[in-house]
Amino acid sequence: MTGLKILATGAYAPKKLVTNDDLAQIVDTSDEWITKRTGMSVRHYVTESENHTYLAEMAAKQAIERAGIDKNDIGAVIVCTVSADYFSPSCACLIQGRLELPNDIIAMDISAGCSGFIFGLETMRALLMTRGAKAGLVIGAEVLSQKMDMTDRSTCVLFGDGAAAAVVSLSDTMYQSVIGVAGNEDMINIKSPNGFIHMDGQGTYKFAVATVPKVIEQVVENAGLTYDDIDHYVLHQANLRIIESIAKKVKQPMDKFIVNIDKYGNTSAASVGLALNEAAEQGRIKPGDKILMCAFGAGKTWGAIIVEW
Ligand code: ACO
Repeated sequence: MTGLKILATGAYAPKKLVTNDDLAQIVDTSDEWITKRTGMSVRHYVTESENHTYLAEMAAKQAIERAGIDKNDIGAVIVCTVSADYFSPSCACLIQGRLELPNDIIAMDISAGCSGFIFGLETMRALLMTRGAKAGLVIGAEVLSQKMDMTDRSTCVLFGDGAAAAVVSLSDTMYQSVIGVAGNEDMINIKSPNGFIHMDGQGTYKFAVATVPKVIEQVVENAGLTYDDIDHYVLHQANLRIIESIAKKVKQPMDKFIVNIDKYGNTSAASVGLALNEAAEQGRIKPGDKILMCAFGAGKTWGAIIVEW
C-alpha cells in the first residue's frame, strides 16, 4: 500500500475571539480594509489557560476518538508548527506523553510554514511505509498571536491560533503528491530566538497566485485526473482573494473550495487541517470524494496532495 487514507479529523480553536473591530482599537486599521483585502472577520487567540501543546492535544484527542482506533496502533506522531511552546522538547513528544501513546514510536515536529500540514501528511506516509505501523497522527498547531508585532498593522491583523489533527493509515486508494522548496528566508520569517512574523505581503501574494495553480496542475496531471474530477479543493487560508484567483485560474466553481478564513484568519500549519475538518463536520465530504489539499508558505515551501475520502 502506497497511498494515504484520512480515517478521521479533529480540531480545536481557542476560546478568545478577536474581531477586526477589536484590532482597529490597537492599530490603524478597519473592519472594511481587513474584510475587503483578506476576507477575514474573526480569529481566535489563546487564553491564559490554553497553550500550544494544549491546542494540539485537544485536536488530536478528537481525531483519535472519531477514528475509533486503539491508540496503541499509532506508530508515529508529527506536529507541524512554527510556534510550539518549546524549541525542545518537540510538541510531538509532549503529545506522546499526554495521550499515553506507545513508547516505540517516532515523534517529531516539522517546520514548513503554512505548507506544514501537507509536508506532515507526506512524511507520515513515508514513515508508515517504512515502519509498518497501522496508523499515524498528523497535527497542525499554531499560536501565532504570540509571534506577532502588535504595532505592525501589515501582519498583526492576519494571523490566528488553532489546531487540527488527522489520523491516517496506508491505503490502496488514490494518493498523489507534489512537494517543493525554493530555500529563501526573505519572503516570510520568524527570527530566533524571540522574533515576530516578518512578511513581504505583496511578494507572498504574487508567489502564491503564480505557484499554487502550477502545483495543482501538476498533482492533478500526475494523478491522471482533470480539475473536474476533484470534488473539494482545500487550500491554505491566507487570503480569500488568493483562493478566488486560483479558482479562476483552474476554472472551478468557488463552491468546490472550502473557505473558513473569515472565522480563523491565517493559522499557518493548522489552516488546511482546520478547513478539512470543518468540511467533514458539515457533511460536505462523502466517502469516495477526491480531495485536493494545497498550501504554500515560509521556506519558501509548497505542496499539494490528492486523497480519496
Ligand atoms: N489596515 C489598513 N491599511 C493597511 C493594513 C491594515 N491592516 N495593512 C497594510 N495597509 C496599507 C499599507 O500600508 C498600504 O498603504 P499605502 O498604499 O498608503 O502604502 C496599503 O494598505 C496597501 O498595502 P499592500 O501591502 O499593497 O496591501 P495588499 O492589497 O497587498 O494586501 C496583504 C496586503 C493582505 C498582506 C496581501 O498582500 C496578502 O494577503 N499577501 C499574502 C499573505 C500570505 O499569503 N501569507 C501566507 C503565508 S504566511 C506563512 O507562511 C506564515
